[in-house]
Amino acid sequence: MKKKLNGLYYPTKDFQKQANLNNKKIYKEAQKDPVVFWNELAKKEIFWQEPFTETFSVTSPSTSSGPEIKWFSGGKLNLCENVLDKNVEKNPNKIALIWEPENPDEQTKKYTYEELLSEVNKFANALKNLGVKKGDTVGIYLPIIPEIVIAMLACTRIGAVHLVVFSAFSPEALKIRLQTIKTKYLITADGYFRRGKIINLKQNADLGIEGTDVEKVIVVKRAGNDILWNNTRDFWFNELTNNESNICAPEKMNSEDLLFVLPESGTTGQFLPIMHTTAGYTLQAKITGKWVFDYKDSDVFWSTADPGWITGHTYSIYSPLLNGITTVLFEGAPDYPTPDRWAKIIEKNKITILYTAPTAIRMFKQYGAESFKNCDISSLRILGSVGEIIDEPTWLWYHKEIGKNKLPIVDTYWQTETGAIIITSLPGIGPNKPASAGLALPGVNMEIFDDNGRPCKNGVEGNLVMLSPYCPAIVRGIFACPPNERDAQEKYKNVYWNLYGKDIYVTSDRAIKDKHNIIKITGRADDVIKIAGRRITTSELESAVNNHLQISESAVIGVPDEIKGFIPLVFATYRGTKNKDEIIKEIELEIRKSMGPIATPKKIYLVNELPKTRSGKIMRTLLKKLYFNEKDLGDTSTLSNPETIEAIKKILE
Ligand code: PRX
Repeated sequence: MKKKLNGLYYPTKDFQKQANLNNKKIYKEAQKDPVVFWNELAKKEIFWQEPFTETFSVTSPSTSSGPEIKWFSGGKLNLCENVLDKNVEKNPNKIALIWEPENPDEQTKKYTYEELLSEVNKFANALKNLGVKKGDTVGIYLPIIPEIVIAMLACTRIGAVHLVVFSAFSPEALKIRLQTIKTKYLITADGYFRRGKIINLKQNADLGIEGTDVEKVIVVKRAGNDILWNNTRDFWFNELTNNESNICAPEKMNSEDLLFVLPESGTTGQFLPIMHTTAGYTLQAKITGKWVFDYKDSDVFWSTADPGWITGHTYSIYSPLLNGITTVLFEGAPDYPTPDRWAKIIEKNKITILYTAPTAIRMFKQYGAESFKNCDISSLRILGSVGEIIDEPTWLWYHKEIGKNKLPIVDTYWQTETGAIIITSLPGIGPNKPASAGLALPGVNMEIFDDNGRPCKNGVEGNLVMLSPYCPAIVRGIFACPPNERDAQEKYKNVYWNLYGKDIYVTSDRAIKDKHNIIKITGRADDVIKIAGRRITTSELESAVNNHLQISESAVIGVPDEIKGFIPLVFATYRGTKNKDEIIKEIELEIRKSMGPIATPKKIYLVNELPKTRSGKIMRTLLKKLYFNEKDLGDTSTLSNPETIEAIKKILE
């Protein structure tokens, strides 16, 4: 990228010339009529078994529910057919998937499009034989191994709805997710490798399915560790697929049929099982890859995200494969066994596009550019960032050390709820600005509103919202099984469509637009903390802390961290006599048990009392100010216990 004087970066002429999108006219064309714009793309990009009859509609079923959004109604399609069959027709021998195991001495696995189709069909038939039907939910609790791709695609092929649970999640986290979707099927593995150690995943799965409806567990053999086996419930993946036919007709799915559910942390503190439907997701996943990553036939794309998260769903799997390019999955940790592991993977596989999170970039920045120096990473042509704010020093380091001052950086903003990217400056058009995500994509209508629902002037911070017709992959609802159906509807409305009325989707992010319409995300507007790019709510953490029998109350705040972006800090009330260090250790254990090691707090403070308003609300903002030793503590007149200020100051000293 070339830098202009005003701090903006533009593509070089050579890059621009070859880019899939290189003319800014597309923004105007899309703006004229976004529905027509998406209609034309859908006809061109998707293989339809039956054409759609209505491009977009939105209705409002009742006052207590959110809007019902429909894209491409009347159409029939199958995501898996678009991913595999259509690309096999074009080039069966093209490599679809490269899998790098954690141990560098173990062999890399590669699947051509034809081989992947064959594996997916075999497993799809196996699922059918076990009783999985169109519309059924299937839990997937797998590490980063090729079978996670096979399992997800097999589900979409037969019209089953997958719910992937991040493999590092605890049995409790798995259990609540399985209970919510009431699935009878779980796909897991014996174990997997993490920093050379074997993690017994099957043991976690066994614990997680207790008290759920799961009747059948399919186990992939990965680590070869000893596991407990239940003969009537457990099945080996390879034994199920060995004798299956590799032909399985793709199910005809309606555009708005449920495609997958993916739980995320939300404002309400509970996790939100977010629903995505078939056609809108397929289109946006495909087109954003073409536009933002400028996919070309020869590209080898590496999204470092775990498929257990939305970035993994959309950009490790669906987007690159829909576009017929090669995608890379890596099982291990970025710096294992040595900090040059990523560089080696890039060199070995001649990766052309690297898509990762600021947390990882900050980690490599701390290791220093040396970790990339001894490898040839000249195959790279585009760099991407996702999931959190990328601060300017980190952006500049990424640009200089990995991008050699020339590669475009796409800072992509989106959410589990939007299914695919919605804001980023395009690499062939620009302008790109460090630490700012960029322009809303063509056809996506983003605004920044003040508290009264009026658009903010340039340079004024406000709430980031999306206006109709909403991106095609937008969340369609919150999934919950029958007795909770109404709650789910209300939750969907309250979380996303309440602040400014039912026409306006609220992202819960704060943002600023500059005079070029470049959007800079400034932080969350709710109680979500982004820890290493993961969404965790303070209330989820607080309830984990409160699990400790001797803790009655707690307050969690997020504070900046050099590597993870943000990190939690815990204040818990404790008046007992037990050794405080022990209590602190136990609290930390509670957190790690229910939220995973990612949520380990920076520090846990035991206090007598938490500062509260007269109506009993804990003043977390005050705790933050006290922690940062701010002089202006704001209005403390509403405090019911002002003496807590001095007491907490002492503890923080
Ligand atoms: O707060 C924003 C932040 O991540 C949230 C969405 O998180 P999740 O659903 O886990 O999806 C992550 C993958 C997209 C957003 O509401 N976020 C995401 N991308 C960016 C970002 N913050 C700043 N800049 C980004 N590029």
